Amino acid sequence: MIITLTPNPSVDQTVWVDSLQIGAVNRFRSPQLDPAGKGINVSRVAHRLGWPTIAFGFLAGEIGLIAHNALDDEGVQHHFVHVPGQTRLNVTVVDETSDESTSLYGPGPAIDREHLARLDDLLQFWLQAGRVLVLAGSLPPGLSDDTYASFIRLARSKHVKTILDADDEPFRHGMEAKPYLIKPNVAEAERLLERSLPDLGAVVEGATELVRRGIAVVVVSMGAQGAVCVKGDKVWQAIPPKVERLSTVGSGDSLVAGLAVAIARGDDIVEGLRLGTAAGAATAMTPGTALGTAEMVAALLPQVQITELR
Ligand SMILES: Nc1ncnc2c1ncn2[C@@H]1O[C@H](COP(=O)(O)OP(=O)(O)OP(=O)(O)O)[C@@H](O)[C@H]1O
Ligand SMILES: [Mg+2]
Repeated sequence: MIITLTPNPSVDQTVWVDSLQIGAVNRFRSPQLDPAGKGINVSRVAHRLGWPTIAFGFLAGEIGLIAHNALDDEGVQHHFVHVPGQTRLNVTVVDETSDESTSLYGPGPAIDREHLARLDDLLQFWLQAGRVLVLAGSLPPGLSDDTYASFIRLARSKHVKTILDADDEPFRHGMEAKPYLIKPNVAEAERLLERSLPDLGAVVEGATELVRRGIAVVVVSMGAQGAVCVKGDKVWQAIPPKVERLSTVGSGDSLVAGLAVAIARGDDIVEGLRLGTAAGAATAMTPGTALGTAEMVAALLPQVQITELR
């Protein structure tokens, strides 16, 4: 079982306009509403890849209900703690002339101690059935930056491996609990290491340094250039097939899902890298916040190149 934790989920609405006019009424066609938040995306992709998963976190209000129903419709199991307020409705406007996207992201409802304790109780119970816990995304107001660290320690006490995909302070604090695997993209790895990683050699060095800090597996994703994976003294690079890119939103989460499935299955991490790279590329081929399908992933899988760098 892959257990995902999305403390600050959202519903994402992507709209396409001819040319975005600031200060004017912009009319859009074909809106798309997706339940989102990084952990939720990981559960949705893991489910598509045929692996059992349950998504946890907090949902609130009518927007929360949209996410709840959308997950039900997709057959993705979930067990969210319902809190007062309103889940975020994140809006992305795609300007079809310039091909540029503009996003508006809200903070999410505040979480109090009582609701955090409820989530803790749920995870205490469900982690017994888990192989992997994925902790992903931002933290809502009310939760301290060491929230991920506490859940990583809880998972370890139950012999569940953890994957942390976060940014800034929640990431930095989460690192102190030594998650099993982290998957920053290059910009996130640069913020964590406080230096720039201008080329492949620098990315490999940076990832190696993070492994030395006590992380078993470090995967740094590099968009269309694929990903570098360091485990112990081994280093691999995965290169995705060339695909027609529509939107890479959710590609990182798809990579995490592939890695999580391999860990849950007890497969070699290289198999997870291969599956995740195919899933990330499949998601890059879908518009807006939509995710790749199982059929797309299966078609791309044999075209992923894995090179052992060390
Ligand atoms: N244009 C692309 N073509 C092919 N594969 C891609 C492309 N963009 C991303 N991918 C695949 O998806 C993986 C993750 O993408 P990326 O590095 O953009 O993650 P990310 O920045 O964490 O994304 P997000 O957090 O928005 O989901 C890459 O390692 C690669 O395998
Ligand atoms: Mg990401």
